[in-house]
Amino acid sequence: MEFAPDPARETPIFAGDFTAQEPLPPEAAERATALLATGRLHRYTADPARGEVSETARLEAEFAVLAGRRHALAVASGGYALATALRAAGAGTGTRVLTGSFTLAPVPGAILAAGATPVLVEIDENLAIDQEDLAAKAAESGATHLLLSHMRGHIPDMDAITALCEKMGLTLIEDCAHTTGALWRGRPVGSHGLFAAHSTQSYKHLNSGEGGLLVADDDDAMARAILLSGSYMFFDRHGAAPPASRIRAHVATTPNISGRMDELRAAILRPQLPRLAERVARWNRLHDIIATSLADLPAVALPSPPAGAVRVGSSLQFRLPSWPSEAVAALVERVRRRGVVLKWFGAPHPHGYTSCHDMWRHVPQTPLPQTDEILRTLLDMRISLLFTPEDARRIARILVEEIDALDGEIRRRHGHHRREKLTRD
Ligand SMILES: Cc1ncc(COP(=O)(O)O)c(C=O)c1O
Repeated sequence: MEFAPDPARETPIFAGDFTAQEPLPPEAAERATALLATGRLHRYTADPARGEVSETARLEAEFAVLAGRRHALAVASGGYALATALRAAGAGTGTRVLTGSFTLAPVPGAILAAGATPVLVEIDENLAIDQEDLAAKAAESGATHLLLSHMRGHIPDMDAITALCEKMGLTLIEDCAHTTGALWRGRPVGSHGLFAAHSTQSYKHLNSGEGGLLVADDDDAMARAILLSGSYMFFDRHGAAPPASRIRAHVATTPNISGRMDELRAAILRPQLPRLAERVARWNRLHDIIATSLADLPAVALPSPPAGAVRVGSSLQFRLPSWPSEAVAALVERVRRRGVVLKWFGAPHPHGYTSCHDMWRHVPQTPLPQTDEILRTLLDMRISLLFTPEDARRIARILVEEIDALDGEIRRRHGHHRREKLTRD
C-alpha cells in the first residue's frame, strides 16, 4: 500500500531541534572554571583532614536528599550504575535477571556485564512491564532479580510490583535513567528497590555529558557498591555513605571494578539539582500540550500512567494500533518533511536507537508477541526544553493534520477502522 504525501498540506513546518539541550546554569561554568584552575579533578584529592570536601561528595549528599534515599554514589555512567547495583545485589554467573523487553540496550548490557542472564518480559499497553507475564516468567525461570527499567518514564503500579517482588523473592533494582524527578504517590521514583540507578548522560534530566548516580538505603549493599566503584580505602571521602567500619567489612570480598565520577562532572551537576523540579514542570507542560491534541484523535492510543504516577514528559510516545505498518512509515516521513522528528520502534531497520529486543542477539531470545504488536506502531518523540508552548502547539498541529489525513486515507481504502486486539499466546 502506497501513501503519497500531499504537497498542498505541508505548511506550517517546524524548524526547532528536537535534540537541543538547554545551556547549563552559569554557576556550572563558574565552578568548572575554578576547579580547572586547581587541576584537582579526581574525587579523592580533597582531603577531609585539611577540611576539604570534594564536589563529588557534596553531589552525593545533595542527590541522596533529592532521591529520598540514605545513600548515594556518583559513578561514570548510568549503565555502570546498573551493573554495579546488580553485582552489589549478588547477581553473577548463573543468576537470571528479569527485565522488561522495551528498554535500551545498556539495560540487558548491564545484566550481561554482571555475568548474569537476562530474561525478557512482555510490556503492556502503557509501555510498562506486564505484571502477569512477570509473575509467570519469575516462576518458570528461577530468576532472583528484577531490573525494572522505567523506559521513557512509564512506570507500573509500584505497590503491585513491590508486593510481587516480595511474594516471588525477587531483589528489585530500578533503572531510573528516564525518571529522575518523577514521583510515585508523592515519593521519588526509585524509592522501592534495593538500588535505583540514574543517568546524567546529556539526553537525561540532569546533564554532565556522561555520568550516573546510584542510590540505596541498605548499608551493606551500598558498601559493596562503593568498593566496586573503586574507592581504594577513602571511605571517609564519600558524601552519603554507610559508616566506614561497615564498608571495611566488605573489602576482602569485593573486587574493584573502577567507574568513579570525576570532580568536573560533579561540579556541573550540583547547580542543576535545585532546578530539576522547575524543569520537570516545563517538560510536562510541553508534553501535555501535544498529548492533549493527540488524545482527541480516534486512531491514537496514548499510554495512561497508573494513578499516583507523576512522570517527566521529556519525551512523548503514542501508538496507532489499527494502522498498517506502511501507514506508520508514511506518517514518520510526512511529519519529517515538516520538521517533526519521530522514532518508530516498529521500523524494519531500526536506526538512532537500540531498544528493539530482537536486535539483542546476545540476549536469550524468547517469543514476545504482545510487545512486538505494541512496538509495531509505537512512535516516540523527544521534547527539547528549548521549545516554547507555541512550538509545542505547532508540533501538535502538524501531527494532528498528518494523522487525520492518513487515517482518512486508511478508512477510505478499508471502508472501516480496524482496531486490532492485542493477544498473547
Ligand atoms: C533506559 C536507559 N537505561 C539506562 C541507560 C544507560 O545510561 P548511560 O548512557 O548513562 O550509561 C540509558 C541510556 O541511554 C537508558 O536510556
